[in-house]
Amino acid sequence: MAAATSAAPALLLGALLLVAAATTAALTDDVLALVVFKTGVADPLGRLAAWTEDDDRPCSWPGVGCDARTGRVTSLSLAAESLSGRLPRALLRLDALLTLSLPGNNLSGPVLPSLLGSLTRLRSLDLSSNRLAAAVPADLFAQCREIRSLSLAHNELSGYIPTDVASCSSLVSLNLSSNRLAGPIPDGLWSLPSLRSLDLSGNALSGSVPGGFPRSSSLRAVDLSHNLFAGEIPADIGEAALLKSLDLGRNFFTGGLPDSLRRLSGLRFLGVGSNALVGEVPAWIGEMWALERLDLSGNRFTGAIPDDIANCKNMVEADLSRNALTGELPWWVFGLPLQSVSVAGNKLYGWVKVPGDAALSLRSLDLSSNGFSGGIPPQIPTFASLQSLNLSSNSISGQMPAGIGGMRLLEVLDASANHLNGSMPPEIGGAVALRELRMGRNSLTGRIPAQIGSCRSLVALDFSHNEFTGSIPSALGNLTSLQVVNLSQNKLNGTLPVELSNLPSLHIFDVSHNSLSGGLPKSRFFDNIPAYFLSDNSGLCSSRKNNSCSTVMPKPIVLNPNSSLNPLSQATPSSPSSMHHKKIILSVSTLIAIAGGAAIAIGVITVTVLNRRVRAAASRSKPAIALSDDYLSQSPENDASSGKLVMFGKGSPEFSAGGHALLNKDCELGRGGFGAVYKTVLRDGQPVAIKKLTVSSLVKSRDDFERQVKLLSKVRHHNIVTLRGFYWTSSLQLLIYDYLPGGNLHKHLHECTEENSLSWMERFDIIIGVARGLMHLHQHGVVHYNLKSSNVLLDSNGEPRVGDYGLAKLLPMLDRYVLSSKIQSALGYMAPEFTCKTVKITEKCDVYGFGVLALEILTGRRPVEYLEDDVVVLCDVVRSALEEDRLEDCMDQRLCGEFPMEEAIPIIKLGLVCTSQVPSNRPDMGEVVSILELVRNPQESPGDELV
Ligand SMILES: *[C@@H]1O[C@H](CO)[C@@H](O)[C@H](O)[C@H]1NC(C)=O
Ligand SMILES: *[C@@H]1O[C@H](CO)[C@@H](O)[C@H](O)[C@H]1NC(C)=O
Ligand SMILES: *[C@@H]1O[C@H](CO)[C@@H](O)[C@H](O)[C@H]1NC(C)=O
Ligand SMILES: *[C@@H]1O[C@H](CO)[C@@H](O)[C@H](O)[C@H]1NC(C)=O
Ligand SMILES: *[C@@H]1O[C@H](CO)[C@@H](O)[C@H](O)[C@H]1NC(C)=O
Repeated sequence: MAAATSAAPALLLGALLLVAAATTAALTDDVLALVVFKTGVADPLGRLAAWTEDDDRPCSWPGVGCDARTGRVTSLSLAAESLSGRLPRALLRLDALLTLSLPGNNLSGPVLPSLLGSLTRLRSLDLSSNRLAAAVPADLFAQCREIRSLSLAHNELSGYIPTDVASCSSLVSLNLSSNRLAGPIPDGLWSLPSLRSLDLSGNALSGSVPGGFPRSSSLRAVDLSHNLFAGEIPADIGEAALLKSLDLGRNFFTGGLPDSLRRLSGLRFLGVGSNALVGEVPAWIGEMWALERLDLSGNRFTGAIPDDIANCKNMVEADLSRNALTGELPWWVFGLPLQSVSVAGNKLYGWVKVPGDAALSLRSLDLSSNGFSGGIPPQIPTFASLQSLNLSSNSISGQMPAGIGGMRLLEVLDASANHLNGSMPPEIGGAVALRELRMGRNSLTGRIPAQIGSCRSLVALDFSHNEFTGSIPSALGNLTSLQVVNLSQNKLNGTLPVELSNLPSLHIFDVSHNSLSGGLPKSRFFDNIPAYFLSDNSGLCSSRKNNSCSTVMPKPIVLNPNSSLNPLSQATPSSPSSMHHKKIILSVSTLIAIAGGAAIAIGVITVTVLNRRVRAAASRSKPAIALSDDYLSQSPENDASSGKLVMFGKGSPEFSAGGHALLNKDCELGRGGFGAVYKTVLRDGQPVAIKKLTVSSLVKSRDDFERQVKLLSKVRHHNIVTLRGFYWTSSLQLLIYDYLPGGNLHKHLHECTEENSLSWMERFDIIIGVARGLMHLHQHGVVHYNLKSSNVLLDSNGEPRVGDYGLAKLLPMLDRYVLSSKIQSALGYMAPEFTCKTVKITEKCDVYGFGVLALEILTGRRPVEYLEDDVVVLCDVVRSALEEDRLEDCMDQRLCGEFPMEEAIPIIKLGLVCTSQVPSNRPDMGEVVSILELVRNPQESPGDELV
């Protein structure tokens, strides 16, 4: 008894150990199999990095799933992980798998023949979208016990579909689409009791499709499209009564639609397009009342389109194109909830009476290439949802209905190759969504309506082979999306409008066989236009033809009023319109800007590179130049008290706190190349900004310093930060400025959201203000040297004030390297001559900085942006945008397009001129201010000031 009682636990323990050993063994097998699997594939993304032998808990590995009870690996799912290499045999060891899913990888090699035989429990296998090749193993389906869902779609498998597949009685879904399979459909496939979905599309399967659909068929979806099947569609296909989707398109089926189809009252999609089916379209299609999509296109159906299709009340898409159908367009085309109808390429000739408020949902109607005649039914323009209307190649006559302008969603209108006459209704401008307008090969007369300029989305315009007269409307220049324009074979005269140079995407512009004359618009496209686009006109001058005709562009003019090169007053003395002036001034700017383009880009990059080098050097030598932050607190010896505080004008010459506590980190407003700035309050309560110079070792003698600072203090202007005083000791110099509450422009431009970003007016005010401030400085002999957005401060009214001016003069000598290290943070603002020892640095370097600043203000982008492996220089970006006529794109998005382009463009061009490589090509600040004032108030400008 005792033995018995002690034996029982021992037995139990033994049994437990055995179970444990078995699980461990199996577990170890699974681990091993997975690790071998891992070593068998390349894993460039490292998705299998966590799979290691040392970790014997594979159930937590990515992509691995286990049975909670047995701990066995039951699923392996690694979709689109870029795994490549041959499909590893190690998979066969994972014999507890229920799900194996490796779609969208790069696995190659053949499908393992014993895959289903070894993985006896497998229910779902998905190896689709890999690069599996070779013939499907003949015995793949020899033992397919549990498999329900199997997809080998989108691989490169060849050979026949193994006939054993018909024995996989548990199959629910079989997808072998998009491979290179050949041969016939195996017999018995239709008898698989559970098969719901069969996709064999996109192969090279051939022969005739066997019949034998049992009444009990579970089939819901069958796709045999894109194969080489021939013969008739199986007569009993309608026995598969649960079918919802049947696609037999793009094969070589012959004969007619089998009668049994009419029983498929649940069928939603019937596709038999692009076969060789014949006979009449059966009226019983109306019995398939669930049909939503019907594709009979590209067959040889004859006779009339049956009215009974109207019973398919859910029909959304009907494609009956490319058959030999005759008679009238059936009324149901306008009566059902159809969205897309095509009857193109038939022999239809009659319009049915189109019902009044019909076709509410119709988006696409293609009636092209039929025999329709008479006028366009007046109801068509009332189809409010229509996006695409193709009436081409019929015998339609009469006028284009004016109602076309009400079709606000219409994107494509093709009425080419008809007999339309009369003029193009100006109402066309109302069809604002139009992308393609094709009216070629008609008999249209009159002028091309300028209103077409309102169809802003237009990409393709074809008015060729008509009888249009008059000139090409300049409004075409507004259609900036235009790519293809064909106006050939008309009677157009006059010159090509200059505005066409605004079209950045144009690549075909055919005006051959007209009576056009004059020069070409100036743009990259027109500079290279092929001669055949211009041939047979009265006198169009192509630059290619090398004739004397000059290009069409505003006459050049110079900024200097006294210059002898002033063709404007001679050429057009009778056009004093200020608009004209504006255009002329700025087109000069354009010319100069473009001419200077390449050179400037090189200049800035040189600066960039040099600056980096200098910056590196500067950071190494920092202690020699810079004062430490807490210098004051660390060196309380009597510097502060023995120093001299000088205030200009009125104001108490005493700080409210002692000098020591004065400049602590909390009050720091910012720092620049010349030192840090702190906010403090004078004893009389006035806030001031104090700049602690960090260049003390370089500062000149006290006398020189005082003289220079006094000079700066005299330059007062409401666009300049007033210098109020200074403080001097040999080791510490402070400059005392007015404190401005609005912060600096850099913050406003680069650190703020759309809601509180600067408006157009504010930006323009800032640009003019800065220009006036600089002009004032220059008039007083002060060069700023360090203009950048963080040195422009805003007062409480948002008025800009230029700060930090003239400090370079405090340095003993204008060493350019030191200087550029001081203003390194002004990267991108610095004129190219700074790097060049032989060029004198003048106030023109401020003009350069101003140009960059103006562009920065308009675009909201930093002068230089460092990307991962690229340096983007703002001026270059803007300059190429100008050359490609898409300046609008570079404006600050936060303006949300709320700005007048006629103001923005001249300022951008001005900015580009100011950033000319050669200093003498830059205007002086006086000229800049005048131009800006002219842009702002074209009316008030004195006409002869600049031109
Ligand atoms: C598959 O491999 C090819 C080259 O063998 C490569 O070009 C492609 O990017 C890879 N595709 C994926 C999804 O990793
Ligand atoms: C067959 O597989 C392909 C590729 O994964 C997929 O696009 C297609 O929809 C599948 N067919 C069916 C009927 O699910
Ligand atoms: C209109 O139909 C014709 C003939 O079917 C076709 O060639 C043309 O491309 C279609 N037009 C558009 C804009 O798609
Ligand atoms: C073309 O654009 C200009 C300027 O935006 C505008 O004045 C003109 O009215 C436009 N023309 C048409 C036909 O839309
Ligand atoms: C263009 O032709 C029309 C007649 O069709 C004529 O009245 C007009 O003066 C011509 N214009 C030019 C610029 O030749």
